[in-house]
Amino acid sequence: MSSTYWTILFISFTVATSSWAQPATTGGGPDTVTNLQFYFHDIVSGRNPTAVQIIKPASERVVQPASGSSPTTLFGAVVMADDPLTETADASSKVIGRAQGMYAAAGQSEISLLMAMSYGFTDGPYNGSSLSIMGKNPAMDPTRELPVLGGTGVFRMARGYAEMKTVSVNAGGDAVVHYNVTVYAPASNGQ
Ligand SMILES: *[C@@H]1O[C@H](CO)[C@@H](O)[C@H](O)[C@H]1NC(C)=O
Ligand SMILES: *[C@@H]1O[C@H](CO)[C@@H](O)[C@H](O)[C@H]1NC(C)=O
Repeated sequence: MSSTYWTILFISFTVATSSWAQPATTGGGPDTVTNLQFYFHDIVSGRNPTAVQIIKPASERVVQPASGSSPTTLFGAVVMADDPLTETADASSKVIGRAQGMYAAAGQSEISLLMAMSYGFTDGPYNGSSLSIMGKNPAMDPTRELPVLGGTGVFRMARGYAEMKTVSVNAGGDAVVHYNVTVYAPASNGQ
């Protein structure tokens, strides 16, 4: 094919702009690194649970569990949560946000949760901003690390990681988890 053909093709791509998609005028520049420490309260027992099972484990359903799956892993169960985030491990301490989303038992031979949650903050400079965290949470391990995939507000274009440590689990299964989140987000977000 002639070079003229390619030149015309190239030009037609570069001039084919449209009203709904324009080159951005902001972006790039240095990142602000933020460290967030808070406590996640996953309350499954009592009259006011904040986390509710919405899909039963495969072993309790009519469908055959996948071969090799153990009922003790709760494989297939899905929980919907709207969990408070507080300043200290004390549930009555200041609420600084809420974690809303789902976690699902994704391990057939281990307790391994797939978490997909939005952490929305309601205090201080982060009020109205959120982080999206999604990944594998082997909940029985003393410490876990999940990726921060993005965010909104001062956390637009965020990336980072959340280190999680279980502080306590009571007889009813209510858990308190410490989060230590390191977030990189563009300084141009205005943080
Ligand atoms: C957070 O933002 C909302 C909406 O702008 C506002 O009503 C609320 O008072 C703010 N809370 C704090 C603690 O700043
Ligand atoms: C929190 O995470 C940061 C970065 O990984 C680390 O330097 C710091 O020691 C951690 N703090 C706690 C209390 O775990």
